[in-house]
Amino acid sequence: MLVPHRNFNLINGVHSPDEVDQIQNWDIRDSDIFAVTYPKSGTIWIQQILTLIEAKGDVTPNTEHLNAQRVPWIELIGSEKEFNTTPSPRLRVTHLQYKFMPLAVRQKRGKVIYVARNPKDVLVSYYHFHKYAAMLETPKDFNDFFEKFMEGKVFGNCWFEHIKTWYANRDNMNFLYITYEEMIKDLRSMVERMCRFLGKDLTEEQMASVVEHSTFRTMKQNPQANYKAVPDSLLDHNKGTFMRKGTIGDWKNHFTVAQSERFDRVFQEKMRDLPLSFAWDINDVNSAT
Ligand code: PPS
Repeated sequence: MLVPHRNFNLINGVHSPDEVDQIQNWDIRDSDIFAVTYPKSGTIWIQQILTLIEAKGDVTPNTEHLNAQRVPWIELIGSEKEFNTTPSPRLRVTHLQYKFMPLAVRQKRGKVIYVARNPKDVLVSYYHFHKYAAMLETPKDFNDFFEKFMEGKVFGNCWFEHIKTWYANRDNMNFLYITYEEMIKDLRSMVERMCRFLGKDLTEEQMASVVEHSTFRTMKQNPQANYKAVPDSLLDHNKGTFMRKGTIGDWKNHFTVAQSERFDRVFQEKMRDLPLSFAWDINDVNSAT
């Protein structure tokens, strides 16, 4: 189901290599905002937050349209036409690697928010997603998926390459780096940080609304923010749920000791030049607050 293209796996029927190659030529406005994630790092969460910030806490758009419609992926087939006809500010997400981005973004037009999540939890969330997403191959078991993830044989490819290439190029862009774990720890502070980066000034009441409607609990109950409305032909809701656990450290319920140690070794090796660290356990963030 994956289509290799320029050392990156696209999804058959969802992405077109030719259209993805055209993205670099897109006309970019200073008001464009791109949220970038490796899959399962909180994409739906940032979609929710960005639309709420833009609407100054008004929940109306969030109850009328799916997150994916409010903040579409740039890599989906047909996205360019929609991008060109959308009034400013255009909010978009992508799982693509840096090299596919519009050249203008790589010359400081528009703004980029990169959301990273600890990769052990990414792997677990992605495993469960593969079990119920029709466009992705169903893994034989967790071990099978663990190996595929480590080899980068998934959409998004190698997690380490994704974060490294984006982070290494941060000075070429108007760039904000945040983590899923920071949002779990203190959602309000992170929304405030995003507002400062985006130049948005919200009242206390508006800020409270953004935070309240971006919590896991509220989003899980909102059909427009939890993908329950997506047809079974795309996401088989009998086999899983998009808003699954929404926590830190679920990897401990899945990884063997050997898998965890192997992952740690790869992490140390691949991340040694990056000044980035992650919370690996919910107690890491709870005890710090
Ligand atoms: S995708 O398919 O790449 O778009 O998936 P993505 O949206 O990036 O990631 C889905 C995971 O994010 C969790 N999530 C949240 N966690 C905490 N709070 C909020 N508000 C929230 N919204 C989404 C979601 O539960 C998935 O993680 P897991 O670990 O599977 O629960």
